[in-house]
Amino acid sequence: MRPAKRDLVSIDDLSSAEIMELFRHANEFREDLRAWSHLCRGSIMATLFFEPSTRTRLSFESAMLRLGGGVITAADPQTTSAAKGESLADTVRVVGGAYADILVVRHPQDGAARVAAHYAKVPVINGGDGAHEHPTQTLCDLYTLWREKGVLQGLDVVLCGDLRYSRTVHSFAYALARFGANIITVPYPGFEMPQFVLDRLDREFGVRASAASVGELPGIAGGENSAAYLTASRPHQLALFTSLSPVHLERIDAIYMTRAQRERHRGESTANYPRISRASMASEMMRDARVMHPLPRVDEIDYDVDDDPRSIYFQQAELGVPMRMALMAFQLGSIRLETGADAVGAPARQTAAVRGLRCRNDRCITNGEGKLYLGAEFWLVTEWPPRLACSYCGQEIDAAFVGSATTERVHRHDCSDARRIRSENRIFFESEEQARVAGFRPDEPAV
Ligand code: CP
Repeated sequence: MRPAKRDLVSIDDLSSAEIMELFRHANEFREDLRAWSHLCRGSIMATLFFEPSTRTRLSFESAMLRLGGGVITAADPQTTSAAKGESLADTVRVVGGAYADILVVRHPQDGAARVAAHYAKVPVINGGDGAHEHPTQTLCDLYTLWREKGVLQGLDVVLCGDLRYSRTVHSFAYALARFGANIITVPYPGFEMPQFVLDRLDREFGVRASAASVGELPGIAGGENSAAYLTASRPHQLALFTSLSPVHLERIDAIYMTRAQRERHRGESTANYPRISRASMASEMMRDARVMHPLPRVDEIDYDVDDDPRSIYFQQAELGVPMRMALMAFQLGSIRLETGADAVGAPARQTAAVRGLRCRNDRCITNGEGKLYLGAEFWLVTEWPPRLACSYCGQEIDAAFVGSATTERVHRHDCSDARRIRSENRIFFESEEQARVAGFRPDEPAV
């Protein structure tokens, strides 16, 4: 019997216990990659890649072949009917089922993986969707770091470079926060971590930013960079850090360097982009640090850093095979994860009713090809004041006005009439004008 469909759209889709169990299986698979060809015999994986890839696509294909399954691939959208205008939704409806038992999808639009998961009958894995998430890269990154350090909780991890458009950084930050690591953001100026990611780290994981004095890090980062230290307000860390604001860092455990995601830029300059050199590796702060990178590298890490034992970026890529074997074997029901009662999974999401409200992210698939067939869909992330997150790309919107589906009156969120509307009758708007267009009448002005 087939297991229940488990998609991996976001790193949130796996609980912490499941992730640790996947690490355990990846360790087993890694011992002898050639010993598992009985596990998924007869299964077919399809890779649908609408953006270039080396590691993600080939490691998934290698992983499925090592599990004994078969692979069909669309590595170039120009050779598929997408070039004739076919939508992602139609493509996955066709490919998932008779053609393949599991799909891996990479797509340039934020939120595309959720669309694929919605329309495919078989499990979908997000191989990177726009600037949104890249959860299997995070599994590889976390697994590599965990193997190196033996622990994740309490580690000080620097995320450096293009934090705005790097999908690997977004998934990695959520996972690091969930496992109790501290995050130091060192963005290339203008490419800071998106505010909605920072807000979510605070809201869901209690991870707050304070200014960081990063001593020798400017030597790595080159030029004027503002660092933020993000630490969870959890007991073990409070004991360490409450009196340190701003935080002065003596040592870091890892630096995760990212390339400038030029394919998503709009002509911004990236002159003086951060770079790790042998000189930066000699700093005291880096003594125990691991140098990480999701790859491909462009020019952010000098080649003569590669043979430093602290450089682990090629291990991240190598461990992608056993890690992805473990993931697919789990999704196809070939292995079971012994997780017991695991309370630390994805938070429950409550859908928010909207009329006329659209995601403000112009890269979101709901504003791209999804305009043809997707409605806007939002989750309620805070009730008062109401804040909504696009359920496809995660970007957040303040909904300042709340209407009643029964009276068709609309109120500012901070007035008592708004709070009296039963939760199942609430309709959220960004503006009074939006509510009027939807046929709602505003509050009568007070006399
Ligand atoms: N890390 C990563 O996603 O690499 P590719 O783009 O080569 O798949």
